[in-house]
Amino acid sequence: MAELSTTGSVTRLGSTQRQDSWWIEILPVIMVMGGFSVYATLRALEGKFYEWGPYISPFYSPLIDANHHWWPFSPAILILGGPLGFRATCYYYRKALYRAFLFDPPACAVSEPSGRKYSGETAFPFVLQNLHRYFFYLAVLFLCFLWYDAVLAFFFPEGFGIGVGSLVMLVNVVLLSTYTFSCHSLRHLVGGKLDCFSCTAFGPPRHSAWRVVSFLNERHMLWAWMSLFSVGLTDLYIRLVSSGYLKDIRIL
Ligand code: FES
Repeated sequence: MAELSTTGSVTRLGSTQRQDSWWIEILPVIMVMGGFSVYATLRALEGKFYEWGPYISPFYSPLIDANHHWWPFSPAILILGGPLGFRATCYYYRKALYRAFLFDPPACAVSEPSGRKYSGETAFPFVLQNLHRYFFYLAVLFLCFLWYDAVLAFFFPEGFGIGVGSLVMLVNVVLLSTYTFSCHSLRHLVGGKLDCFSCTAFGPPRHSAWRVVSFLNERHMLWAWMSLFSVGLTDLYIRLVSSGYLKDIRIL
């Protein structure tokens, strides 16, 4: 159903006066997020090939009840909610997903489907996006486990060593850290809500922290995508090594 714009002309989904190829921006989001969602779901449900030697897939860490004493399904399902909730409520991903999957709107100055009543994020289910600040704390906890895993990845049964998998896991956790610590909620927490640093307790250290987080925050979209790729590729690498399709090369 079409509706009238403020100028009195009829608007439909996708109608716009923009002359550029605005739709190109949403295509990679649909392909990458769609592909990642399918891959991550299949891997989480698979319940095997998630560890090899000192390596463990980020989809399965922390590993809970791997021997199925009380949980009969894949252990990844037990922890999936934390990282998924953090990503799904991320301010950047919200913008990208609303545009790519809900066309709400598809891009700046491009019409969304007509007949929708705009309520922003004030009504269910989108009001749940406000949980993002709490998912941030959960994400930091997960990060601690992943750093622990990354350190363990350098210790093989015969002692310290460096394998390709060790480096893959290290790069992954570094990228996840940059993504997590560039979060808008963290920036608000350390100083984004302040008008005057010198007027508040711990002003100078908070100002320094705010500058670092702001530097990361300006590149939040970059970290979001790079860390998404690194999580998927780290899991894929460990799956291939664990299932015998690939041999882990020991560098040292
Ligand atoms: S805003 Fe993206 S992780 Fe917090």
